[in-house]
Amino acid sequence: MAAIGISTGTPLNGGQKLAMKYFTVAIALFGAQVLFGLLAGIQYLNPDFLFGILDFSVNRMLHINAMVVWLLFGFIGSVYWMLEDESGVPVVGIGLGNLIFWIFTLAVVVVVLVYLLVQIGPGDIKSIWLINEGREYIEAPRWADIGIVVCVLAFFYNVAGTFAKGKFTNIGGVLVMDLVALAGLYLAGMYYTPNISMDQHWWWWVIHLWVEATWDVLVGCLMAYGLVKTMGVRRKIVETWLYIEVALMFGSGILGLGHHYFWIGTPEYWFTIGGFFSALEPVPLVAMVVHAVFDAGHHKLKSTNNPALAWIIAQAFGNFFGAGVWGFMHTLPQINLYTHGTQWTASHGHLAFFGAYATMVIAFLYLAVQKVRGGVYMSGNLVGAWKWKWAIFLLHAGLLAMVMGLLIAGYEQSQIERAIGGSSWMAYFEAQSHRWFMQGMFWRQIGGWTFAAGFVLLAWDLLTIGKRETRPALTVQAETDAA
Ligand code: HEM
Ligand code: HEM
Ligand SMILES: [Fe+2]
Repeated sequence: MAAIGISTGTPLNGGQKLAMKYFTVAIALFGAQVLFGLLAGIQYLNPDFLFGILDFSVNRMLHINAMVVWLLFGFIGSVYWMLEDESGVPVVGIGLGNLIFWIFTLAVVVVVLVYLLVQIGPGDIKSIWLINEGREYIEAPRWADIGIVVCVLAFFYNVAGTFAKGKFTNIGGVLVMDLVALAGLYLAGMYYTPNISMDQHWWWWVIHLWVEATWDVLVGCLMAYGLVKTMGVRRKIVETWLYIEVALMFGSGILGLGHHYFWIGTPEYWFTIGGFFSALEPVPLVAMVVHAVFDAGHHKLKSTNNPALAWIIAQAFGNFFGAGVWGFMHTLPQINLYTHGTQWTASHGHLAFFGAYATMVIAFLYLAVQKVRGGVYMSGNLVGAWKWKWAIFLLHAGLLAMVMGLLIAGYEQSQIERAIGGSSWMAYFEAQSHRWFMQGMFWRQIGGWTFAAGFVLLAWDLLTIGKRETRPALTVQAETDAA
């Protein structure tokens, strides 16, 4: 890689080369997510836009499916990135890992093309197998579902096999156990039943138990590794925190599932269980903030990679506010009765997914790009630092504008449609055409454009950061456990 920067560092290992492939696809799909989000947003303001060519339902589906897949690609890439470093041995079965990457990517391309080309069709078993399963976020047809399971099994073999052969660190142990749960839960989303209550019951096992249990634990592992790498934090400290967070997350997140069982025809005891346990869910997220901020302060913010550290800190806060605070706001059944399925939910969904997950993947992209550039200096005043600083600013400014616009629209819906209009059909339309709703949608779109500008800058920065740097990376003194 002669073209990019000086090459003083060690070359990428096999896992890291594979990770770079996953990262490349991830960032491209992130771009697709932004594009389809913008189109869907325009359709809120102008419903005729692209009507019959690229309907709202298709844009929305592509928007959120692109999100799930780019985050998964980002996570898989991040795990491959740290795998050899953490375990101390080359990735077991790397050839299979590479093959699977291409199969997985090809399958994603085919599924996207089918979504774009076949937008309507009969709701029969053939559609389920070939076109679309109709389950929000995991719409992929059955053939792709099976393909995904195979790919994930191969990935699991790489990860578990490598740790088993090398060192099984505490981070590695938590990660492997978590991947078992993550892959296993995906199967719940493949269960077919024409009973809509039962279908929703199982579907939430994937959606909720992914984002509020297994994905959260996964980013906990990534954060632990990230803190060790960027600041030299003592392993014992991050690992202790990791165990505390995992215990709390599983403790509250698993039965917190009940906050989706209030209105879908499941038994009434879910009101109590869901309300109680999900109300506890913010607790581990506070622990994560304390953990990251404490470590950063303790190390006086001195790090080998400032952009990565900035995104790790953004993760701690984004996770806390997006999932913890915004989630808590509507998690009690007494409140959810009014807010369920309004833009309030979308406000929470945007802040939580970006805050908790996109941020961590972006942190790893910066860790990776530093090494690709030959281990160059990446502290606050690196050459061209304005780009990463403006990117993180614009992305967050755009996100917050979207989140607040949606929140105001959601408040208005809860008030006009639910509280005053008593959830009638007419009240639904009255709320949807109210001027506060329309203004919220307008500001969401402004936020969307700002976010898109931030995305372009982020992509440009990742392609160029460190190229003109000649100083080697700062080294941080790794704390020893004896310290
Ligand atoms: C990073 C973690 C989280 C992510 C990514 C996330 C994301 C989402 C998304 C996208 C939805 C909408 C699902 C749909 O399409 O119907 C949702 C719903 C919901 N979330 Fe979260 N969430 C997270 C954590 C939390 C936490 C910690 C709580 C509670 C403290 C919470 C409470 C809720 C509730 C109550 C709903 C149902 C909203 C409704 O009734 O319409 N979430 N979440
Ligand atoms: C250019 C920026 C974006 C725009 C304009 C945008 C727009 C939209 C629109 C119009 C919807 C459909 C809402 C509905 O059905 O009422 C949506 C849904 C969603 N978007 Fe975005 N979005 C953007 C960025 C993002 C980002 C960065 C994330 C997360 C990483 C995200 C996550 C979601 C989720 C989870 C949903 C489903 C929410 C739910 O069902 O409650 N979006 N977005
Ligand atoms: Fe949930």
